[in-house]
Amino acid sequence: MGKFVLGVIVTLLVIVLGALGFGMLGFFPTRANLAPPHLESRIAMGAVDASMERHAPHLTNPVTPTDPNLEDGMKLYTMNCALCHGGLDRKPASLGNSFYPPAPNLVTDPPDDPEWHVFYTIRTGVRYTGMPAWDKTLSPQDMWKIASLLSHLEKLPPAVQEYWKTNFGVEAPAGADKDDKEKEEHEHQ
Ligand code: HEC
Repeated sequence: MGKFVLGVIVTLLVIVLGALGFGMLGFFPTRANLAPPHLESRIAMGAVDASMERHAPHLTNPVTPTDPNLEDGMKLYTMNCALCHGGLDRKPASLGNSFYPPAPNLVTDPPDDPEWHVFYTIRTGVRYTGMPAWDKTLSPQDMWKIASLLSHLEKLPPAVQEYWKTNFGVEAPAGADKDDKEKEEHEHQ
């Protein structure tokens, strides 16, 4: 039994020292201008999601998605997030693909996670990536406004869609409902 335990300890030590040596001898890659391999992305994303599920409080968004709150969300997003996640004018983010892993475009591909999940991502950031924690920069109220915008991106009320078009020069993203309505309108013509 004693020999077995010793064997386990020695094996673990070899693994730890091996990993340390691997790093100290310069074998860990540091480049950020490469796309992560598929398998690495899958495993890392799974681990990030599982950790969020475990750690993020399941809060209800205290900010109601009124027109002014959604418009505030658009301003806050543009000032703080568009650089990495893509503008509301649909121009690609200048820095989006300069991170390892890359920053997803949140306008063309909005997150389908619950708002408490998006809020937690914004508030605490994502370690080992370019995603900053915003809790030192934005108030909880402002972070909820952005979470609200991102969750309602494809179902914005008409006045907010109008605001979007006036300020960003392109149509607001169309959700399934709007597509149906447009189809109906075509059929009636
Ligand atoms: C300096 C660049 C940068 C800025 C600025 C930035 N992010 Fe990120 N963000 C990233 C990167 C890189 C990732 C990818 C992290 C990952 O793959 O886990 C990310 C991931 C995210 C995700 C998770 C997306 C998903 O697929 O689940 C959300 C949500 C998010 N950011 C929201 C925001 C919001 C809202 C802001 C503005 C308040 C913001 N980010 C500002 C770089 C940035």
